Amino acid sequence: MSRRIPRWLPAAALLAPLLMLLLSLALYGLVQQGGLAPFGVPTGEARVVPTDPALVERGAYLARIGNCAGCHTATGGEAYAGGRAFSSDYGTVYSSNLTPDPAFGIGDWSLAEFAHAMRHGVSRNGIASPVFPYANFAQLPERDIQALFAYLGQLTPVARAQPEAVMAFPANLPGALLTWRLLYHRPAELQPVEGMDADWQRGRALVNGIGHCAMCHGRRGRFASLAADAELGGSRISGWFAPPLHAGSLDGRFEPGSIATYLRGGTAHDRGGYGAMADVIATSTRYLSEDDAQGIETYLRSLPALPLAEASSHRLRASGEHLREGRALYAQHCADCHGDEGRGEPGRYPALVDSAAVIGSDPVNLVKLVALGAIAPSTPLNPRPHSMPPSAHRLNAREIAALVNDIRERWGSRPRPITPDEVRELGGMVRR
Ligand code: HEC
Ligand code: HEC
Ligand code: HEC
Repeated sequence: MSRRIPRWLPAAALLAPLLMLLLSLALYGLVQQGGLAPFGVPTGEARVVPTDPALVERGAYLARIGNCAGCHTATGGEAYAGGRAFSSDYGTVYSSNLTPDPAFGIGDWSLAEFAHAMRHGVSRNGIASPVFPYANFAQLPERDIQALFAYLGQLTPVARAQPEAVMAFPANLPGALLTWRLLYHRPAELQPVEGMDADWQRGRALVNGIGHCAMCHGRRGRFASLAADAELGGSRISGWFAPPLHAGSLDGRFEPGSIATYLRGGTAHDRGGYGAMADVIATSTRYLSEDDAQGIETYLRSLPALPLAEASSHRLRASGEHLREGRALYAQHCADCHGDEGRGEPGRYPALVDSAAVIGSDPVNLVKLVALGAIAPSTPLNPRPHSMPPSAHRLNAREIAALVNDIRERWGSRPRPITPDEVRELGGMVRR
C-alpha cells in the first residue's frame, strides 16, 4: 500500500526552520530591548504632582537642557502643547502635548506612567517614535524624572490634540515601531567609570542623558538607529550636518573653556553656532550652568578621535577654470571677513581653514552657510553676535558650486566636487 506525500509537506519542511529562525530572532530582540517590561504600562496609579519649589525649579532647568519645549512646541503654538512636525524619509511624526490637560496632554498621568514613558518610550498611547529621545532620558535618575513631572505638572493646560503621524513605507506597516524596537532599541544603563573625576562624570551624564547630543551628533546605523554607546561621529540631521564631537575634532579649534562658552554664549571667540545648533543653543544650552557646561567640555575633550573627513578616493577634480571662477567669487564675497587665506579675523570672523563646515566630507553646511548666511543666537553672554550675509539672491547654483569647490579644494579634504544640482538640492533657497 503506497501512501502519497501530502503536497504541502516539502514546503512546510522548508518553512518550519525559517519560521523557527524568525521566532528566535524576534525573541532575542524582545529580550534585548528590555523583555516584556516596557509594554506593561502602569496605568492604574493615582496622580500626585509634587509641588516642592526646589524640585519644580530643578525640573524647569532639566526641561531646558532636555529641550522639551524646543521639540514639544509647534511653530507659533503654545509652549509644551506639542504639534511640532518632524519629517524624514520615514514620514512625519508630531510631538505630543506635555501640558497637564487631562484630555490632550498628560494631565491624568501618574508619576509612574510618566517615568515609564521617559524610560521605555511606551505609554497608554502605544510605542513612541524614536524621535522622542527616550533612550537618552532612560539614563536620568529617578529624582530628575520626578522634577520634570513636577515642573510639567504646574504648566497651564492647553487643549490641543497631537496630530496623527503620517508614515511612509516601510514605517507605515503594522508593527513597524515594534519591529524597530526589537531590532535596534538597546537600552543601556550608565555605569560610573572609575578613575574619572566628578566634572567628567557630570559631563558624560549630561551629554548622554538629558542633553541627548547623539540625537544629532551620533553616527546612525540602519533605519536611523543609534547604538546605545553612539559614538559622536557626526551625522546629517534635519538638513544640516552635526559634526563629530571629540578631542581630535574640537581641540585644535576650541581653546580651553571655549566649548563651554560656545554652548552658553552662542559664540566662542569668533566661532558661533548656526543652523540647527543655533536653535539648540537658543532654546537649550544657553541655560546650562557654568559647571554643567564645563563638565560637557571636559567629557567631549576626553573622547577618542575619529577621522573627521573620510579619505577621498574620488579621482574626479573640478576644472581649473571652474576653480578660478570660485576663487574670484571668494575674493569678492567672502575675503573681506574671512581673509584672503581663510584665516578669519580673530574675535570677529571665524577662520575657514579649520572650520568643520569646510574640512568635513559633507558639504551641506558650507552650501547652506553661503546661501542663507548665518548669525549665532544672541545671549546675555554675547548679545550682539557678528553676522554673515546670505548670498542666495546674488549667486546662482553654478557660482555657489564653484565657490564651495574652490574652498574645499584649498582648505578641505579635497573631496569630489559638487554640482549645481546638488547645490539646489542642499541649499534651500538656491533656485537658479
Ligand atoms: C528631539 C525632539 C524631542 C525632544 C528633545 C523631546 N521630545 Fe518628547 N517626544 C517627541 C516626539 C516627536 C514625541 C511623539 C512620539 C510619538 O508620538 O510617536 C514625543 C513624545 C513624548 C512623550 C510620550 C507621549 C505619549 O503620549 O506617549 C513624553 C512623555 C515626552 N515626549 C516627554 C518629553 C520630555 C519631558 C522632554 C524633555 C526632557 C522631551 N519629551 C523632549 C520629541 C521630543
Ligand atoms: C560680513 C562678514 C562675512 C562675510 C562677507 C562672509 N562671512 Fe562667513 N561668517 C561670518 C560670521 C560672523 C560667521 C559666524 C556665524 C555664526 O557664528 O553663526 C561666519 C561663518 C562662516 C562659516 C562657518 C565657520 C565655522 O565656524 O565653522 C563658513 C564656512 C563661512 N562663514 C563661509 C563664508 C563664505 C564662503 C563666504 C562668502 C560667500 C562668507 N562666509 C562671507 C562673517 C562673514
Ligand atoms: C538638533 C540637532 C543638534 C543637537 C540636539 C545638538 N547639536 Fe551640536 N550641532 C548641530 C549642528 C547642525 C552643528 C553644526 C553647526 C555649527 O557648528 O554651529 C552643531 C555643532 C556643534 C558644535 C561645534 C562643532 C564644531 O566642530 O564646530 C558643538 C561643540 C556642539 N554642536 C555641541 C553639542 C552638544 C554638547 C550637544 C548636546 C548638549 C549638541 N551639540 C546637540 C546640531 C545639534
